[in-house]
Amino acid sequence: MTTYPLPVVGKRIEGPDAASLWLAVPQDLASAFSYRAGQFVAIETEIGGETLVRQYSLSSAPELDRDLRITVKKVPDGRVSSWLVDEVDKGDVLEVASPRGLFFKPHDGPRHVLLLAAGSGVAPMVPIARSLLEEGTGHAITFAYGNRTPESIILKDEVDALAGDPSVHVEHVLSRASDGWDGPRGRIDRDYLDAGLPAWAERSGLPPVAYLCGPEAFMDVAESALLLFGLGQSDIRRESFDLVLTDEDDEPPIPVTAASPGETGDCERISAVVGTEEVEVTPRPGESILDALLRVEAEVPFSCQEGTCSSCISKLTEGSAEVRSVVLKTLRQDDLDEGLVLACLSKPTSRFVRIDFDDI
Ligand SMILES: Cc1cc2nc3c(=O)[nH]c(=O)nc-3n(C[C@H](O)[C@H](O)[C@H](O)COP(=O)(O)OP(=O)(O)OC[C@H]3O[C@@H](n4cnc5c(N)ncnc54)[C@H](O)[C@@H]3O)c2cc1C
Ligand code: FES
Repeated sequence: MTTYPLPVVGKRIEGPDAASLWLAVPQDLASAFSYRAGQFVAIETEIGGETLVRQYSLSSAPELDRDLRITVKKVPDGRVSSWLVDEVDKGDVLEVASPRGLFFKPHDGPRHVLLLAAGSGVAPMVPIARSLLEEGTGHAITFAYGNRTPESIILKDEVDALAGDPSVHVEHVLSRASDGWDGPRGRIDRDYLDAGLPAWAERSGLPPVAYLCGPEAFMDVAESALLLFGLGQSDIRRESFDLVLTDEDDEPPIPVTAASPGETGDCERISAVVGTEEVEVTPRPGESILDALLRVEAEVPFSCQEGTCSSCISKLTEGSAEVRSVVLKTLRQDDLDEGLVLACLSKPTSRFVRIDFDDI
């Protein structure tokens, strides 16, 4: 993974266990750090003699903010999150990889955009909302954000500022609110969504699309409520911050075919486009596309190697592959139909495969 040194030019504490850090991008790295709302960066650091790589969503909006910003919440005993929140400060330099990710996809017309977040899951939502408002294409936005207490709400001023626009409706949902709290109580769960979705739909009349970010359990519950309410799976996008997703596949692998499918059979050559480089490798039987490329030390973006971090999202531009079914936790069938895959979950099924890590 290629990283670049970016100076920290600002820091703000966001409540008891979170902080935002602003990172300046020098002019000569502007194209390496161009991004879409909702994308994330990977940060590499060494702690206790171990090299650690962690992903953080950009909480800045590409059209509106000069510097990049990440917003980090400490997890208990979390090494990198604690370091970023407690120790890193203005004047330090972080090793940062180019933005990646496919959480937000531009819409082809006005939609009712449901942003459902919990805890640090707010980070990609704020730029998505700000970018949509900047675009001014007639979307309605409902932003429901779950936390424990008023003090634990991250980026509260920015979320509340969104509600100043008549097309935006914001609800803070608190699970441990004090007596004075007059907003919704509890969690963004089945009951909350069953009660809210019909009213929200009536308010806008636009076709809905939902973005979910927070703990897996929260997203599973929210997704099933949205499906029951009538949204299609391709209208529900999820960004997972959790580390463990991929235990066993309970479904067979999913075939993915590029626009130019080529001849099926044992793969003789994988060609990977990364930046201006094109790397070639002959895969070993049963090897994933990512493993084959790492074996020849290709500088491809990756981290978890098990389908949880989204770093290795890439596009099959020639040939075919089969992808472990857990990919559907991150990508949707319509993404796969476009040839998008996670390289760490994909095995080639054609004699030649070309995969592009930048065309996402
Ligand atoms: C695409 C993507 C975007 C992300 N964006 C953000 C973001 O914007 N803001 C943010 O704060 N985090 C974000 N994360 C999570 C972040 O990458 C790290 O996983 C998190 O900061 C924990 O790393 P750590 O080194 O502090 O914890 P570690 O030292 O790796 O873990 C220490 C302990 O915490 C547990 N743990 C680790 N990670 C988590 C987790 N995510 N949730 C619950 N328990 C955990 C471990 O099981 C372990 O017990 C994102 C993750 C991904 C994949
Ligand atoms: S390397 Fe993390 S999803 Fe593939």
